[in-house]
Amino acid sequence: MSFCWMSPHSRKSKTDPLHEYRGVMFPRGVARDHLDAMPHFQTREDDIAVVSYPKTGTTWMLEIVSRVLSVGGKADRTSEEIGRLLESTVPGSSKPSHVSLEDMASPRVITTHLPRQFVPPGLSKPTGNVKVLVVMRNPKDTAVSSYHFVNKTHQQSGSKVPLKWDSFSQEFLQGKAGWGSYFDHLSGWWQMHNDPHFLFIKYEDMKKDLRAAVKKVANFLEVSLDEDTLQDVVNDCTFGSMKANMAKSQHAGKKVLARKGVVGDWKQHFTLEQSDSFDAMFRRALGGTGLDFEYDEA
Ligand code: A3P
Repeated sequence: MSFCWMSPHSRKSKTDPLHEYRGVMFPRGVARDHLDAMPHFQTREDDIAVVSYPKTGTTWMLEIVSRVLSVGGKADRTSEEIGRLLESTVPGSSKPSHVSLEDMASPRVITTHLPRQFVPPGLSKPTGNVKVLVVMRNPKDTAVSSYHFVNKTHQQSGSKVPLKWDSFSQEFLQGKAGWGSYFDHLSGWWQMHNDPHFLFIKYEDMKKDLRAAVKKVANFLEVSLDEDTLQDVVNDCTFGSMKANMAKSQHAGKKVLARKGVVGDWKQHFTLEQSDSFDAMFRRALGGTGLDFEYDEA
């Protein structure tokens, strides 16, 4: 699930890892062919999808979904297995994930970072019993999390020069990042917030009351959990438990998916001016739509 993504302005050479597709930047791992195939991908009536912009809590939600489905006896799959992005390739092979999903038993879990205009029609306007979970996080903490993630992956690939927060945050704001603008991503998906096929869930609310969030996800997935089982899932999905499990993982990429896990880290990075620019962009993209975020730890 982890790609290196940053703007061509920050990396001037041929090794630029982003490419543009219909006006949106994507990492090279999200090949043009895969994006071309999206309109033809057939959803099933009982598909479950997890939609998120990178660094908004994808791994966290996948852990919750995989645990809920497993204890509910609906599907026994690891969060790694369901965490293959629809638009990427199965790790260690050249097989596109959207092709490999054709062989997955139902209910499938489809994970994507795509903006709404690029997903298969069965996910942008779902029918039947298709369920789409959309994870959202305040844009400032999302930008900070992206910044640290990109820096870490660059260091791991041998780069000794850290990225500058100032230019990174500007580019993030302008959508010069993998999967495009987070503000556009939010505004595209949020249009569906009254549709019963969707559950919108905020990172900040998961932090405030994880038990309530897990319960909400379970209800949405039509899984009933007794109090003890619910508590077991909650215990497994805390930041501490997940970080400890990731630390044991063999995959180097997994180790960078749990960093600080807090609300409000943006205050350690943003100047007042940067904060104002993010607020202004949010108002332009989403003002008056009823969507808002908390920016402080509860
Ligand atoms: P930070 O970098 O702010 O710590 P994604 O999975 O979409 O890449 O998102 C990664 C972000 O989610 C990271 O944020 C990571 O620490 C945070 N995260 C992962 N598991 C979490 C958990 N159980 N509780 C809180 N935050 C979690």
